[in-house]
Amino acid sequence: MASDLARIQDFLVGMGMAASCLDADSVLAELTAEMDKGLAADQCELAMIPTFVSSESRIPADKPVLVVDAGGTNLRVCTVTFDVHGHPTIDNFSKQAMPGLDREVSKDEFFETLADYLSSVADLSDRIGFCFSYPSEISPERDGKLLRWTKEVQIPELVGEYVGRGLAEKLEARGHGRKQVVVLNDTVAALLAGKSVGDDRECSAYVGYILGTGTNIAYEEKNANITKRTDLDMGGAQIINCESGNFSGGPLTEVDRELDAATSTPGGQLLEKRVSGAYLGDIGLALLKQAGEQGLVSQAIADAVAEWGELTTIEMDSFLWNPYGCLGPIASLSLTDAEREVLYAIFSSVVTRAALLAAVNVAAPVLKTRCGTSALHPVCINIDGSTFYKTHKLSHETYKFLDAILGARGVHYMAVSVDNAPVIGAAIAGLS
Ligand code: GLC
Repeated sequence: MASDLARIQDFLVGMGMAASCLDADSVLAELTAEMDKGLAADQCELAMIPTFVSSESRIPADKPVLVVDAGGTNLRVCTVTFDVHGHPTIDNFSKQAMPGLDREVSKDEFFETLADYLSSVADLSDRIGFCFSYPSEISPERDGKLLRWTKEVQIPELVGEYVGRGLAEKLEARGHGRKQVVVLNDTVAALLAGKSVGDDRECSAYVGYILGTGTNIAYEEKNANITKRTDLDMGGAQIINCESGNFSGGPLTEVDRELDAATSTPGGQLLEKRVSGAYLGDIGLALLKQAGEQGLVSQAIADAVAEWGELTTIEMDSFLWNPYGCLGPIASLSLTDAEREVLYAIFSSVVTRAALLAAVNVAAPVLKTRCGTSALHPVCINIDGSTFYKTHKLSHETYKFLDAILGARGVHYMAVSVDNAPVIGAAIAGLS
């Protein structure tokens, strides 16, 4: 048994997937340097997008706002109203699939679909908070121009277009009047939602982190440090959407490179492709195929696995939760316990690496805030995304790494989770 485990460990080291293959401190230094570059110039690996939203947004009471939340997998529509204490009520909620995922759609079809989904609530408010979870340049009026697609969405005509204006025009053409649309990223929405619950706790800074189909982070930066812009009030501060999923630093394995080449954005989103729900299952499958080729499982299992085209993150994860009763194609394999150990070690290595990279991703902006130096005033990190919370041990391991990285630097943090954070944050932005 011991030698079997040693063989698995050797395999993981050979594939670059053992914990020892990644040095958190050096990746953190690389990521911080990329963040600084993105604050100083356009066209950098990290877009570091100014959002013209500060965490000080005021929430007017008893005014409904329409919310559209276009995420990586779903498109949600609802209305939100806050009471005088800032507590939200969500009504008229509906959820559909995000257009452009199963097939390419045109720009017009996208806005038609949004307008269809909004049609029954469109007259309930003249304001819309539009959480658009893709890299978009934000104008001072807070509309969003799509820079590029991520998460395998296929609506090429929308690149370079303002999505708030497109939606407002479509609703106006349908007789709903002219709406005021505020576009914001889901990380920015998460930050605002975290602020709405963290205020009482007297946190010293706020961060919004998403780990779902995609991954990304937002934090608040002094305008004086956003040196690529000359039009900002130098005394102020605003939330920055880092688009950190595009970070390419840290070790990339052969499997990472092969998987990347097969995506719709080769060379891009390389952090996201090692960390987020859209890709973890694919990494697990590619490693399993390698294990088959290297004789870590029987020939029959290797042959069966070699035929699989896909393993979803949910299927891979279900094996970690229960190696004897999982979902998807793995359930059809007649595995010995020794082989189950191999699969468990491989899939765990995918999760552990994701957790370490997630912790580095969160730590970098937390440290840039220079806050959290007192336990009384920690940095509030609102974390959202089903991959983070549902994947076996992912949240647990991320906190462990984060404790080590931030603890060593004397920085205190408080992680929170807010139900429907993108919706709540979009509502706050839409009203403010
Ligand atoms: C992708 C998008 C980014 C979003 C993240 C999480 O990385 O580019 O805008 O915040 O996914 O949904």
